[in-house]
Amino acid sequence: MVHADASNFASDLSKEEVYRQVLEQAEGLLIDQRNWVCNLSNVASLLWHAYHSLPSPSNKVNWAGFYTLDPLSPTTRLILGPFQGKVACQTIAFAPVARGVCGTAAATGETQLVPDVEAFPGHIACDGDSRSEIVVPIKAGGGRVVAIIDVDCAVVDGFDETDREWLEKLAGLLGEGCDWP
Ligand code: SME
Repeated sequence: MVHADASNFASDLSKEEVYRQVLEQAEGLLIDQRNWVCNLSNVASLLWHAYHSLPSPSNKVNWAGFYTLDPLSPTTRLILGPFQGKVACQTIAFAPVARGVCGTAAATGETQLVPDVEAFPGHIACDGDSRSEIVVPIKAGGGRVVAIIDVDCAVVDGFDETDREWLEKLAGLLGEGCDWP
């Protein structure tokens, strides 16, 4: 049964253990539920509470959520999806010219781990508080990018290879486990 307890993380877990719990909870939530709005909303909650259960820098995460293909222009533009954090940019172009970290991840199909957003050409400052960022593409069948996971942190070097590894696993689960428009 879906329950708010899924967002509770013990305060003494390692980052890897916290991500393992996120994956396990997400797997459970996706059983018998393939609606992408529903699933991305619950996973945004899991991520937000997971990061905030950890020590710095993870607990300095100030935005965690998703952009999906914009149905009005699915070959050129992302649109804001479910998230936790402050109000964010509504659309982001990824073709013919990719904009920002999110647009680059969507255009290349590759994870973008950005230790310092001020050093990333074209970074889109939705929130001036964000200092580092990781963006992971979500691919449906056939490798088609259908969405991205975006997590921002208010300090530099907020993310490392552990974040990449587990967010890529999460992206794999979501890509397979949701019906995408
Ligand atoms: N900083 C992102 C834009 C999205 S917000 O961070 C939520 C980028 O450069 O693509």
